[in-house]
Amino acid sequence: MTPLLFKNPVGLAAGFDKNGKASGIWSSFGFGFAELGTVTLLAQPGNPRPRLFRLPMDKAALNRMGFNNDGAQVMSSKLEATWQGRPRLIPIGINLGKSKVTPLSDAPSDYLGSFRLLKEWGDYFVVNVSSPNTPGLRSLQDAPQLSAILSALQSENQGHKPILVKIAPDLEWDAIANLLEVASKHQLAGIIATNTTISREGLKTETISQTGNPITEEAGGISGTPVRQRSTEVIRFIWRETKGQLPIIGVGGIFTADDAWEKITAGASLIQVYTGWMYEGPWMVRRILEGLLQKLHERGLTNISEAVGKQELS
Ligand SMILES: Cc1cc2nc3c(=O)[nH]c(=O)nc-3n(C[C@H](O)[C@H](O)[C@H](O)COP(=O)(O)O)c2cc1C
Repeated sequence: MTPLLFKNPVGLAAGFDKNGKASGIWSSFGFGFAELGTVTLLAQPGNPRPRLFRLPMDKAALNRMGFNNDGAQVMSSKLEATWQGRPRLIPIGINLGKSKVTPLSDAPSDYLGSFRLLKEWGDYFVVNVSSPNTPGLRSLQDAPQLSAILSALQSENQGHKPILVKIAPDLEWDAIANLLEVASKHQLAGIIATNTTISREGLKTETISQTGNPITEEAGGISGTPVRQRSTEVIRFIWRETKGQLPIIGVGGIFTADDAWEKITAGASLIQVYTGWMYEGPWMVRRILEGLLQKLHERGLTNISEAVGKQELS
């Protein structure tokens, strides 16, 4: 496996470019890498609208998109048309999900089908078993189910591409510890922590204005500031549990360089943004990068890798 080179640690999180339509432009926004998807084997429309809400009082979003996408074959053709014979400026990840109509018991062949179609076009792959918006998907985080998916993918992969798993912030510590054992057994390249949360705790928003319903009755996952602390705790737990041996991509509630630094010193080698970018706009990436450089400079460091997992630098 050729190691991937990241010019900077700030990536675009999954969910923004679901079909890989814009895979060539993300480097121009300053991103050090971009994750496409979630893509599923079968094209699907996602949930009925409205399915995405801003919660400005919480600097958050609630989404229940439900993996709306054109399917793995369409993404593969698009990526071929974009990249055939052209070099990449930044690493491109592809985030894979299970098609809604595929029974949970057939999940391994569903993920495998997408991987087969796309394996040439991703620099790394993510097994998404943490979206709250596909019924039962998160149960695939349990060791036996996850093992079956990873076995299928790794036997097709033959060590060629890094494969990571993206996890939910709502898992208990025991469940994360079990998952880390599975990760090591299947030579995972890393963990992405975390997806959106199903918790509604601590929110200032009480009602969704578009629907008039209490937030506690609206399905979906919360992203942005409310998930920040929990996702950092999950990163710190993984770092400690694996003694810093397993790469972590940290995501959840990053708006500023301070937020990014919190994730990095907790153990994330790379970070991703979605909701922050949605609120702050494209200049956010540059602001975070400049802030991170400043932090390195103040501490006499030259590379982000020197800060990873160093709680004492936070
Ligand atoms: C509108 C929206 C759609 C998303 N779609 C996906 C998705 O398709 N796959 C996925 O793994 N995560 C998806 N996410 C989760 C993000 O990638 C990220 O893990 C989460 O939002 C936490 O980061 P943030 O607080 O920076 O947004 C989505 C998030 C939002 C807000």
